[in-house]
Amino acid sequence: MGKNAVAILGISGSPREASTAFAVKEALKYATEKFNAQTDYFSLQNKKLNYCIHCDHCVRERRGCIQKDDMLKAYDKMEKADAFIIGTPVYTGSVSGQLKTFFDRCRALVARNPNALKNKVGAGLAVGGDRLGGQELALLTIHSFYLANKIIPTSGGAFGANLGGTLWSRDLGTEGIKKDSEGLQTIYRTISRLMKLSMFLKIGGRKM
Ligand SMILES: Cc1cc2nc3c(=O)[nH]c(=O)nc-3n(C[C@H](O)[C@H](O)[C@H](O)COP(=O)(O)O)c2cc1C
Repeated sequence: MGKNAVAILGISGSPREASTAFAVKEALKYATEKFNAQTDYFSLQNKKLNYCIHCDHCVRERRGCIQKDDMLKAYDKMEKADAFIIGTPVYTGSVSGQLKTFFDRCRALVARNPNALKNKVGAGLAVGGDRLGGQELALLTIHSFYLANKIIPTSGGAFGANLGGTLWSRDLGTEGIKKDSEGLQTIYRTISRLMKLSMFLKIGGRKM
């Protein structure tokens, strides 16, 4: 792996090994095959992930979160990554509760170092049981997380992947999503843009 290889971290916000996990892994596979990316993966399935309790220990002490659970592994992976692809199942028109908790807990990471995630690049994908079940609203929540943490949000752009990956599982888990060929195209478009932007920043302008 060359020193300019982009390190991309895929995060699955589903509590199951099903359609979202498949989509995130498919995105990582594409990033490796087409762009020679170095990949890492973190699933929220079976993780001990406590809610943020707003104790403000992280902002007072600036030494990370007081809760010592599986977020510690995630913080480490996030700091090492150049780029993120975060996937979520659509739950009630937005991201999963697990992913929202993950986002809230990242407050401790940036309280310790406000630039911990600065100028990394991020994209999202959302998998709904319905074709139009709130995928774009869920993506906007992922983009809000990026914006709030100095991560540069991106997507596959107009004519196909406007806000990122939008997928339809028909509530059939992995088997459902494998049949969503249009949805899979939105992942490839999104990863292409994410990787090209990340490579540009890695070679050129990270120290802006
Ligand atoms: C609590 C809950 C809420 C859901 N809400 C929505 C929804 O608002 N829109 C939608 O399209 N699908 C909804 N679904 C269906 C899931 O998004 C869908 O089955 C998805 O593929 C699950 O991802 P997974 O296979 O990675 O678990 C919901 C499922 C659950 C469990």
